[in-house]
Amino acid sequence: MKRIIFATNNEGKMDEIRDILNGMEIELLSLKDAGIDIDIKENGKTFEENAVIKAETVCKLTGEIVLADDSGLEVDYLVKAPGIYSSRFLGEDTPYSVKNQYIIDKLKGIEDDKRSARFVCVIACSFPDGITVTRTGILEGCIAKEISGTNGFGYDPIFYVPEYNCTTAEMPTSELKNKISHRAKALKAIKEVLLEYMTQHENQEIEHEGSDSK
Ligand code: IMP
Repeated sequence: MKRIIFATNNEGKMDEIRDILNGMEIELLSLKDAGIDIDIKENGKTFEENAVIKAETVCKLTGEIVLADDSGLEVDYLVKAPGIYSSRFLGEDTPYSVKNQYIIDKLKGIEDDKRSARFVCVIACSFPDGITVTRTGILEGCIAKEISGTNGFGYDPIFYVPEYNCTTAEMPTSELKNKISHRAKALKAIKEVLLEYMTQHENQEIEHEGSDSK
């Protein structure tokens, strides 16, 4: 069975990816499961660069297939802030109640059509042969006029999704959010990449076996 490392120690993310990659002939490991303890500097300028840095670092270290993600919130009125700084915005230890209220206050009085925002997730997949592929998932929405809802995490209480007429913190189930989320979209796209890679590899192995027996 192929081993794939997801470069995270976040169990919530592991559950989400296990759910989406369910049915594939793979053994999925977190950094901890793989016995890796490193602090990778996320010093890229985009979600994509950060995801690639993480995936390639762990891939070079282990020689295994490695997935890594980077995600965040882009608010158009704030020139796409907090973006890649989403978790560090106003300070890493600042509670989200403060970060969320800050954004709400910044957009006070701003008309609906200028409140657009999106959650972005980029997943990078690094293969031991040196190739890295990325896929992006986006959930479009807008900044709510007030903090609403207690489900989810981070910026969920201010991220309003018009299609569902609620914030992502007010979604009736976590399953619904996980189905429509930026991360789910990127994960589903990366699953296609993995399936293609595995099919190609199986074919190469069959060709090898064929030429060995000649
Ligand atoms: P990470 O790259 O997945 O660790 O996410 C970085 C930051 O983006 C998080 O700490 C949150 O601030 C924000 N973020 C990413 N995804 C979500 C989400 O689904 N809901 C709320 N906030 C999110």
